[in-house]
Amino acid sequence: MFVTIVENNEISAGYFRLAIHSPELAENTKPGQFIMMKVGDNYDPLLRRPMGIHKISNKDNNPCVELLYQVVGKGTSMMSKMKKGQQVDVLGPFGNGFAIPQNIKIAVFVAGGVGIAPLAMLAEKMVKDATDLKTYLFIGGKSKNDVLCLDDFEKLNTKICIATENGSLGNQGLVTNSVSKFIDQKANGQASFFACGPYQMLKAVSELTAKKNIPCQVSLDRRMACGFGACLGCVVKVTQGNHGSYKNVCTDGPVFDANEICW
Ligand SMILES: Cc1cc2nc3c(=O)[nH]c(=O)nc-3n(C[C@H](O)[C@H](O)[C@H](O)COP(=O)(O)OP(=O)(O)OC[C@H]3O[C@@H](n4cnc5c(N)ncnc54)[C@H](O)[C@@H]3O)c2cc1C
Ligand code: FES
Repeated sequence: MFVTIVENNEISAGYFRLAIHSPELAENTKPGQFIMMKVGDNYDPLLRRPMGIHKISNKDNNPCVELLYQVVGKGTSMMSKMKKGQQVDVLGPFGNGFAIPQNIKIAVFVAGGVGIAPLAMLAEKMVKDATDLKTYLFIGGKSKNDVLCLDDFEKLNTKICIATENGSLGNQGLVTNSVSKFIDQKANGQASFFACGPYQMLKAVSELTAKKNIPCQVSLDRRMACGFGACLGCVVKVTQGNHGSYKNVCTDGPVFDANEICW
């Protein structure tokens, strides 16, 4: 489907927020789902790029979905040059999205860099729907430039813990060091974890939560050629499943129970 770009702004060096007008996507997207976006008018690059939905919003009375993306290569560089009013071809929403546990009391979000994108929408929905939910955010990046969306979580009264590898904001080191301390000292059976970010971060969070039997959902990032289960290019090894011991990240995920993944 063709949708119109409403804004495309650089919010931190190399990170952009792009809003597209689409009542269909705004109405039908769950937190953790994604779209496949065509980034050029011709066949270069041939493949669409997967992008998680970051927010549902209203701009000038137009229902929109917002993406938050980092420029890492050709496709995302082309996205960064897209202009307001331009039409783009997108497919979706795809994927399962996060499962929101009933009567959840403590939600802990763990984000690495642009992995914050789907967690912002998830946190907003969970806080809106719950009566007495406590929320925590552990967010990490290489430097303060990579730590995004803090204001979204401040509005939700989330307790925020920041870590940067170069120490330019928050604790110096990996975000998983702070997560580890939190799990040792504070996390109990009432907490559920939701994580999105680099593979090694997800693996570490999965190991930490597994030790204490704390539920944890992870959103996996894989290169995707189709996004709807046709190419089998995105499979991940799982401890059990429909397709032998492999599942498609695009159709069975991208969100998985952390215990399900063979890390
Ligand atoms: C379900 C899903 C949701 C995503 N949501 C977001 C999002 O909200 N914001 C965002 O910035 N990015 C997101 N991504 C990652 C995004 O799709 C890639 O960064 C993008 O496709 C890179 O395209 P490119 O042409 O710029 O880079 P390329 O030129 O194709 O590659 C540049 C570099 O990025 C690496 N790369 C490319 N694609 C991926 C990928 N999917 N995962 C990991 N590394 C990759 C390549 O190995 C290479 O090192 C998501 C990916 C998935 C699977
Ligand atoms: S991207 Fe083609 S099967 Fe998942």
